[in-house]
Amino acid sequence: MTIYDTIIRGGTIVTAADRTRCDVAISGGRIVALGTDLGDAREVIDAAGRLVLPGGVDAHVHISQPSGDGIVMADDFESGTRSAALGGNTTIMPFCLQEKGQSLRQALKDYHAKAEGECHVDVSFHLIIADPTDQVLGQELPALVADGYTSFKIFMTYEGLALNDREILDVMSVARETGALVMVHAENYDAIRFMTEQLEKAGRTAPRFHATSRPIAVEREATHRAISLAELVDVPVMIVHVSNRESMEQIRWAQNKGLTVLGETCTQYLVLTEKDLDGLNMEGAKYVCSPPPRDEASQEACWEGLRTGVFTIFSSDHCPFRYDDPAGKLTPKGRTSFRWVPNGIPGVGARLPILFSEGVMKGRIDIERFVALTATNPAKTYGLYPRKGTIAVGADADIAIWDPERELTLSHAMLGDGSDYTPYEGRPIKGWPVLTMVRGAVVMRDGALVGRKGHGTHLARGLSPYATKAGPVTF
Ligand code: URP
Ligand code: ZN
Ligand code: ZN
Ligand code: ZN
Repeated sequence: MTIYDTIIRGGTIVTAADRTRCDVAISGGRIVALGTDLGDAREVIDAAGRLVLPGGVDAHVHISQPSGDGIVMADDFESGTRSAALGGNTTIMPFCLQEKGQSLRQALKDYHAKAEGECHVDVSFHLIIADPTDQVLGQELPALVADGYTSFKIFMTYEGLALNDREILDVMSVARETGALVMVHAENYDAIRFMTEQLEKAGRTAPRFHATSRPIAVEREATHRAISLAELVDVPVMIVHVSNRESMEQIRWAQNKGLTVLGETCTQYLVLTEKDLDGLNMEGAKYVCSPPPRDEASQEACWEGLRTGVFTIFSSDHCPFRYDDPAGKLTPKGRTSFRWVPNGIPGVGARLPILFSEGVMKGRIDIERFVALTATNPAKTYGLYPRKGTIAVGADADIAIWDPERELTLSHAMLGDGSDYTPYEGRPIKGWPVLTMVRGAVVMRDGALVGRKGHGTHLARGLSPYATKAGPVTF
């Protein structure tokens, strides 16, 4: 009889489609059998009373990206993937940021060097296109898509990152030709600059005015514009980190029109509001991210988008800075105006427990949709499926075992990232990942990291099934 490496016994297996009581047999890092009475294994993991889920795939994570002004991100690839593993994730998709004047190849070399030998979970880079030169568009991108970097993020805002509409069309055209998927950060840069200057003139510089400087109209307009530009070149597009109903409705409108427009929302838009930016003594800086968290009605809209399928993906947008640190949120410049507070909040470790507790345990979404939004859909959308994102024979043994009854109060200490706070401190949580396995190796058990860094590897990806590879656009 076969002796497997590992059997996970007695749990309830959940996929995006269904739930089943059965055992999982693992050998050589892959799932090799599902069923009962599977036989013997060198290690048996008891999962009685537990849920056995595909490991989380967090498709939107920032790690070790430079931010200028001497500000440094709080996570390197070791701490960022540590937090991911503690929170039940087995793959993260961080960004490789091209700097102005830099080749994409050079940027990738740098990010691979930062990640090599450091990761606890698997990683796969998206590219951020900040400088779409002829060389980048004509030579580098087609070659890199063929090498498995099959998604690019572009920005409609941020100094040094924002592309104009012409540049966006150029990048989208390359995506159409190569079959890559374009992710768009949709906020109107000029409107934000205008609002920011007005607010500063009026002396309204505290962190809470970060939200005032980019109201919903700023996001809704850019969302609609990104959709229209994608429609022009006839290419699918993913609108990331959607924060509110009006932007969500632009996506729904496009979907109803028959366009392939995908949407993502994130933890902060479900459980934070603009009021969180209102704390005393710069405490509000802890919640500065873009788009900003809005209000309760926006939270409801984001839940609706998750429930009804307008949003395909639920991510963290983990972008960690230390709070109490002159190299983090509170630089001397940052204290003078919200304009200089780095945008982004930590969340890779908190994403799954919060969606599980607020979504599944409170009856807003079922457990199958939880798996779809957090693992299966991200893996499919970005070309990692069926190797990642499900529990099936032949898939990588990337598994998180959850105790659905575990109740705790969320605190930064349990998340393991390199920041010095969590914006979700003190939240009551029901349901917690108790074991994370990456390609058959247990990397987290009962809140402790038990793997070795360097087990996580980089994944080349296939084309998104949403992408068309429709050839050059002709008019
Ligand atoms: O404020 C945010 N979201 N910072 C991270 C960068 C981005 O735009 O996703
Ligand atoms: Zn590498
Ligand atoms: Zn963004
Ligand atoms: Zn982001």
